Amino acid sequence: MFKILKKEELSPNVFSMDIDAPRVARKAQAGQFIVLRVDEKGERIPLTIANFDRQTGRINIVFQVIGASTMELAALNEGDAILDFVGPLGRPSEIQKFDGTVVVVGGGIGVAPTFPIARAMKEAGNKVIAIMGAKTKDILIMEKEMKEVTDEILVTTDDGSRGIKGFVTYAVQELVDRGEKIAQITAIGPVIMMKSVADATREYGIHTVVSLNPIMVDGTGMCGGCRVTVGDETKFACVDGPEFDGHLVDFRGLMSRQRMYRDMEAEEKDHVCR
Ligand code: FES
Repeated sequence: MFKILKKEELSPNVFSMDIDAPRVARKAQAGQFIVLRVDEKGERIPLTIANFDRQTGRINIVFQVIGASTMELAALNEGDAILDFVGPLGRPSEIQKFDGTVVVVGGGIGVAPTFPIARAMKEAGNKVIAIMGAKTKDILIMEKEMKEVTDEILVTTDDGSRGIKGFVTYAVQELVDRGEKIAQITAIGPVIMMKSVADATREYGIHTVVSLNPIMVDGTGMCGGCRVTVGDETKFACVDGPEFDGHLVDFRGLMSRQRMYRDMEAEEKDHVCR
């Protein structure tokens, strides 16, 4: 069992949890994920690692309540325990010193997994800029933490209540327009956001990495549930990813696979609520 050491509601329906998982923390690297199961009947939930501390053995996860399983997870409190917590899974982000600025783009709770990447890129000697997007200023998360590991932060909100009014792509365009020499962009967030960032950077030839979080079952390359088309190849996000070249990902196919179980998920959520 894996104990919840700390729980915090970052914004309505968005929770941060520190989990006591020393063996996972010892090996965790930026860009990797875990798969957890609340109890024997629980669905497997894949979550990209938002932070890790090898010394204390803590793994931090950030999730939004969107269905039955995340609702059950959110109902747990400090001192409670999770049945399964498997990881670190997937390939780590490629961290190196780039000839140019490294930009991380996080949309919504996608800001959380950009944090360890930004930190590792900074530690590797890069100039790092974070673009953080949210619908409104009240649901912007982890701004303080991101400030500590980056050189600059650009905030965008859909309603203009903070920073640039509009989508994260507006901030990407601002960096391009001011002549920032961008070596790489890593975008994490809703699929449509990652697609938009990849579309926006294509014409400038900026290498764009996206972190995919498709439906996953085993998380070890056995079930095929997480398959995505990248270029002309079928890849498994759990073992070949989760990060891929955003200019090669078939986002249309990915979005349609994500919609496949929507009715069943709604039914199950309804069941749990009752
Ligand atoms: Fe089963 Fe990736 S989750 S192959």
